[in-house]
Amino acid sequence: MAIPSGEGTKIHVPVMPQEVLKLLNIVEDGIYVDGTIGIGGHAGLILSHLSPKGHLVGIDRDEEALEICKNSLNISQSRLSIFNDSYHNLNSILDSLEINKVNGILLDLGMSSLQLDSKKRGFSYKRESKLDMRFDQSQKKSAYDILNKLPEKDIANIIFNNSQERYSRRIAKKIFEMRPISMVSDLVEGIRLTTPPSKRNKTIARVFQAIRIAVNDELNKLELFLDNFSNRLTIGGKIVIISFHSLEDRIVKHSFRELKKKNVIRIITKKPVYPSDEEILSNKKSSSAKLRSAEKI
Ligand SMILES: C[S@@+](CC[C@H](N)C(=O)[O-])C[C@H]1O[C@@H](n2cnc3c(N)ncnc32)[C@H](O)[C@@H]1O
Repeated sequence: MAIPSGEGTKIHVPVMPQEVLKLLNIVEDGIYVDGTIGIGGHAGLILSHLSPKGHLVGIDRDEEALEICKNSLNISQSRLSIFNDSYHNLNSILDSLEINKVNGILLDLGMSSLQLDSKKRGFSYKRESKLDMRFDQSQKKSAYDILNKLPEKDIANIIFNNSQERYSRRIAKKIFEMRPISMVSDLVEGIRLTTPPSKRNKTIARVFQAIRIAVNDELNKLELFLDNFSNRLTIGGKIVIISFHSLEDRIVKHSFRELKKKNVIRIITKKPVYPSDEEILSNKKSSSAKLRSAEKI
C-alpha cells in the first residue's frame, strides 16, 4: 500500500508487509500495538485484519506523521487509539487505556520517507535544511545542539559508537573547528574535507544516521522497551521488530535471547528475515531492513 504524505516525498511504502502480517498472525478480535505507526502503512494492514471488536494502539513521536496517519486511516476511535509518545512508554500508554495485555506489538524502527524527504527537518544529507533531526518536534535537543554545544570528544564518540565510522575523530575535529555548523551542507562539507572521496557518500550517510540516533536517543529507548514489553503480551502474543541498523538488530537479538533463556518467549525467527529481491527492487529503502519476531510463552 502506498500512502500519500504531506510535504516531501509522495509515498511511504511499509516494509515487509506480508511478513509482518504473517508473523503477527492476527487474532481478529484482538488488541495490537503499532509502536512506530508513522503515517499508518502497516497500521492500515493490521486494521484490515481486525474485526470491529479489535483494537489498535498507534504510537509515534512525530506529531506531523500522526496527523497524516489519522487522515489516511480515517478510522473511528473505538478501533484505533493514537498517542504522540515514545513506544518505550508502553506501560503508561496501555494503563491509560485500561488495557492489561495485547495480542501483538510491531516496531518498525528508524525514520519514514516523510521524515527523510522533508525539506525542513534535516534528516537527509541530500536536502538543504537546518540541522534538526528530531522525531519529536517538542524536544529541546536537536542536531544543532549536539554539533555545536558538545565537546569534540563527545561528538567523535557519538559518531563512532553509533556508526563505527573509522574517520569519526577527524570528522569531529573539523566540525569543532567549523562551528557554528547549522545547515545540512555545513555538516556535509565538514565530512567532505576530512574523508577520502571513495565511498564518501556512505560515510556521510553513516554520520547523519549516527547524529540522528543520538538526537532521538534511539538505542536507549529501544533497550527500555525491550526490558518491559513481554509483561504486556498475552500468552501466544507476538512481537515483530524491523530494524535498519546493525546496532539496533544486535540489541533486539540479544534481548530476545535473554528472554528465551528465562522461558519468557519463543523465538520465531531463528535468523533475521530480509526483504525479498523483488521488494528491494520496488522499494530501495527496504534494502537494509532486518525483521525478528518472537512469541510470549
Ligand atoms: C519507519 S517509520 C514507520 C513507518 C510505519 N510503519 C508505516 O508503515 O507508515 C518509523 C517511525 O518511528 C517513529 N519513531 C522513532 N522512534 C520512536 C519512538 N521511540 N517512539 C515512537 N515512535 C518512534 C518515527 O517518528 C517514524 O515515524
